[in-house]
Amino acid sequence: MTSFYVTTPIYYVNAAPHLGHAYTTIAADVMARHHRQRGEEVFFLTGTDEHGEPVADAAHALGIEPQELADRNAERFRALAPQLSASNDFFIRTTDPEHEAVVQSVLSRVRENGFVYEGTYEGWYCPRCADFKAEADIDPGNRCPIHHIELTREQEDNYFFRLSAFQERLEELYERSPDFVAPRTRYNEALSFIRSGLRDIPLTRHKLTWGVRVPWDHEHVFYVWFDALLNYYSALSYAPTPAGFAPGGGDLTERVWPATYHLIGKDILRFHAVYWPAMLMAADIELPEHIFVHGFLLMDGEKMSKSLGNVLDPFEVIERFGTDALRFYLLREVPFGQDGSVSTASFELRYESELANELGNLASRSIAMIARYRDGVLPAGDLDPELAADFEGLTESFCAHIDRAELTVALESVWERVRRLNRYVEEQAPWRVAKEEGREQDLDRVLRTLAEGLRTVTVLLWPYLPHSCEKLLAGLGAAELSLQGAALGPGHVSSVSAIPSLFPKESQAKA
Ligand code: MSP
Repeated sequence: MTSFYVTTPIYYVNAAPHLGHAYTTIAADVMARHHRQRGEEVFFLTGTDEHGEPVADAAHALGIEPQELADRNAERFRALAPQLSASNDFFIRTTDPEHEAVVQSVLSRVRENGFVYEGTYEGWYCPRCADFKAEADIDPGNRCPIHHIELTREQEDNYFFRLSAFQERLEELYERSPDFVAPRTRYNEALSFIRSGLRDIPLTRHKLTWGVRVPWDHEHVFYVWFDALLNYYSALSYAPTPAGFAPGGGDLTERVWPATYHLIGKDILRFHAVYWPAMLMAADIELPEHIFVHGFLLMDGEKMSKSLGNVLDPFEVIERFGTDALRFYLLREVPFGQDGSVSTASFELRYESELANELGNLASRSIAMIARYRDGVLPAGDLDPELAADFEGLTESFCAHIDRAELTVALESVWERVRRLNRYVEEQAPWRVAKEEGREQDLDRVLRTLAEGLRTVTVLLWPYLPHSCEKLLAGLGAAELSLQGAALGPGHVSSVSAIPSLFPKESQAKA
């Protein structure tokens, strides 16, 4: 059976979740839900990154132990997923002992394979990024280009990972797999970093204690990025098999590794697109298929992040407008893969004009007309060929977009049909046809076409708007979510029933 494995980055527990984190989780959930609709065995992983300097520093600033801060904030990230209606199959914490054991065994193998040596590192380091900076990445005044804080000069005896040994193999990988990293600009960025010449990087930290112990030298912990990246692999060794999987078929690693998609933000490209494949090569582990890099959600032109302090609270947005609206808005407003601004004003505009007016009204008036003119029952028969032609190939092209993680383009392709259906209502004016004698069959066909068109868009929109689409499909008496029967065709909707308003005005809103 085809498997689909999608991951989000694991989030730092040095502060609370914000909209930037919600964004990646929502995107991954859309992909996971869609692939479940295809009947595939889907594994969707998210979780928390708990070791390293940023977490240790944040805990000490609060006067508590890193473990206590990690426990506290990991729960907030764990709680975020269901609040976003994310259907993740597992939530990994890098302090899970099972994860730590896998990190130790994989990185010991990297050492046995000859890719680890002892050395001294000296360079500029950003404690917030937990990253050593190349000279080219440093802002004037020795400042971090992301956090704007002054970098520290670090000198440390470390074990090094022989990244330079993978120069050629990485270049070959990029040549062979032009869709290993997408969008193309990010592929080019990663490849030019590789071509600029790879230098060996620290694999361990001597000065830190908050991390996974290096099994061959207890004075060291692994550099947090190596520990963190391995979550994508380690989780499969101890996560329970999802209920939807066919019985038998081996353990999860055999069933779903390699990952189909790692979704990440553009700030962590180099770790995923360069270090991660090199590390996997060094450990003789198969490489992931795709890394998709999304942009930043911007407010007033700056990246939202906990360290900059200009945070828009996803919990508040959900409280006021519901999860579906948040999911829809983020993937509609900001082309997935690019940066884009978000604001309350544009959120409210889309909620009103697109969700309430375009989809909500289409649904309520279609159901109401079938109730009024046909007592809620639709006689069997053909669909309007002209409208059917406008739906031709929709499911196939929608799937092709999702295959490339083009979540905004896929959504737009369905939304065009939502608009087409609204125009269809205006063109056909069923309220006039209902008054004209001898046109009973015409009215049947119009209402049938409308109901079936609505069903098709609803099935495709379900990953974006799960609650609203389930309510709507219930109203259409067609609960089936499988994509097999998603294409427009007669015979799915035979009777309808009234549903509550899908996108009510804010006072009553909550999906
Ligand atoms: N812990 C690392 C990831 C390790 S993955 C093996 C990390 N954590 S993070 O919490 O700082 O960020 C996680 C993700 O959230 C990153 O991909 C980052 O780009 C994303 N976002 C944080 N702020 C963002 C926006 N304002 N907009 C969109 N996503 C951004 O990095």
